[in-house]
Amino acid sequence: MRRKLAAGNWKMNGTGANLAELDALMAAHPTPQSDLLICPPATLIHSAAKRAANHPLQIGGQDCHAATSGAHTGDISAQQLQDAGATAVILGHSERRTDHSEDSEDIREKARSAQAAGLRTIICLGESLTQRKAQNTLDIIAAQLALSTPDTSNGENLVIAYEPIWAIGTGLVPSLNQIGEVHDFIRTNLERRFGAGVGRSVPLLYGGSVKPDNAADIFTVSNVDGALVGGASLTATDFSPIIQALESSS
Ligand code: PGA
Repeated sequence: MRRKLAAGNWKMNGTGANLAELDALMAAHPTPQSDLLICPPATLIHSAAKRAANHPLQIGGQDCHAATSGAHTGDISAQQLQDAGATAVILGHSERRTDHSEDSEDIREKARSAQAAGLRTIICLGESLTQRKAQNTLDIIAAQLALSTPDTSNGENLVIAYEPIWAIGTGLVPSLNQIGEVHDFIRTNLERRFGAGVGRSVPLLYGGSVKPDNAADIFTVSNVDGALVGGASLTATDFSPIIQALESSS
């Protein structure tokens, strides 16, 4: 059985004052039945991890460099994330692919490094609206999946997040059929690439405008094992009902 995962991506939001949201979240979910992960900005990782030290809530980064150290001004290595208290890292988010021109090969190198550092890698895939309209979604997903995931991946260190770019931060959500089609496709591809055992053990998250009022429906879709949540992960008030919906889904 795959464990469910509710992951929050705070993006470039939040200062120390916002860590109070983590306290509220932990208080609302003292013994969570699913994995919980918050990826705050890098400046907050250390203090967030300290706050969550006695709770199953995990803290993650939003990116890392492929190298372990060196002359890379402004970058953070996987080892440094791990040292700060992170246990996971989001890689290949579409905002990184766009804002920082990261391609799938870059993401695979980062993921290799992060997995070597003992981090769980959440690798994001997703098509643009133009690609969906041109009916290229599955081709795009297949290519991103094949190129972005290192051979060192397994059910413990890999999570795939399907995030249609046009659904991120827009309030638009694909139909449940569209989500199911892509998630089933990703599952089949993972089984083919890594074998049935590993392929079936990798959690698949949906991301893109997941909110308290649509989460329960999304979690009914086959091969949706959780969510990667942006805006609605910033407050415990919004994120907590999403966690509840995930835990009550079968
Ligand atoms: P959103 O972001 O939930 O605000 O749409 C999702 C994401 O980018 O991971």
